[in-house]
Amino acid sequence: MEEIEIIKPDDWHVHFRDNEIMQAVVPETTRHFARAIVMPNLIPPILNGKQAIQYKERIKNATPKNHKFEPLMTLYLTEETNKTALKQAYIKGDVFAVKLYPAGATTNSDSGVKDIKKIMPVLETMAEVGMPLLIHGEVTDKDVDIFDREKVFIDQKLDFICNKLPELKITLEHITTSESVSYVREANKNLGASITPHHLSLNRNAIFFGGIRPHNYCLPILKREVHRKSLIEAATSGNPKFFLGTDTAPHLTIDKESDCGCAGVFNTTYCLPILAQIFDNEKSINKLEDFVSKNGARHYNLIFNKETIKLIKLDNKLIFKNYIGIKKEKIKIFQPNFSIFWTVADKLL
Ligand code: DOR
Ligand code: ZN
Repeated sequence: MEEIEIIKPDDWHVHFRDNEIMQAVVPETTRHFARAIVMPNLIPPILNGKQAIQYKERIKNATPKNHKFEPLMTLYLTEETNKTALKQAYIKGDVFAVKLYPAGATTNSDSGVKDIKKIMPVLETMAEVGMPLLIHGEVTDKDVDIFDREKVFIDQKLDFICNKLPELKITLEHITTSESVSYVREANKNLGASITPHHLSLNRNAIFFGGIRPHNYCLPILKREVHRKSLIEAATSGNPKFFLGTDTAPHLTIDKESDCGCAGVFNTTYCLPILAQIFDNEKSINKLEDFVSKNGARHYNLIFNKETIKLIKLDNKLIFKNYIGIKKEKIKIFQPNFSIFWTVADKLL
């Protein structure tokens, strides 16, 4: 039986939500990941160090006692964010990074940033102290086609920020296009990018396969096959600028299968088996550890995890659970449209 042992992975982009959903989804992450960057787009958003500390405590309480896990907290950037308070929260270690949502770009982003120029003083402070900026890189101009919003963001906004502040540590999150891959590859060393399992697995046809598929709707939206191939190439290349951020984004099925369904894919449960299969298919299983366990830590100047996990290749394809239950409701677990033969040798189930 084929198996590999790798440093325990980190997830550099998760949505844990709060309350019952948080209770159900946190163990799905903490079972296989040692650390995760936690998104602040709650209702209301996490805006200051105090709120981040309290949210971190709630996450820790939802973590099973036998899972060793460190949540890395983020603040939600607005045009009113106070740079002195932000600096203090970072230096005290209460928060790890700042998340920039262009206002209206995605779920719970209404209080996000409308005018990048207004936040430049805050970004300068972040560059001074070494605090990372995490970016949802899509413009929100309704005249820009939804499939072009990431590319236009790079041209109109990201390039401006990178040129003004080359010392700022930036993550262009959940990239979806070949243009993003090229831009990040060629940019200065402080720009990295995270990639999700769903953007590595599916192209935009999956949103409409035999009918409308709300569980494959996420933002940035899935793109053409040529872009998926480019993401695969980046992820499996070993290039340290590219690393895993699952963007696991749980929504109840009633909220996804709706007249106006929410964006987001809940993908944590089988994330590592799916990635192992993708890397195996590309004959790059030896690069999996870079992508899931090393490159992100390098980008954020963190040490590698000490623990390891084992992945095993099965003779028969893995049978997926379809849902996790939340009281009387449920959340659909992401399943790609190809067979998975890998699994995690789980000591913690
Ligand atoms: O699909 C998405 N869902 N993309 C995001 O950027 C946000 C996320 C969510 O919070 O549901
Ligand atoms: Zn996200």
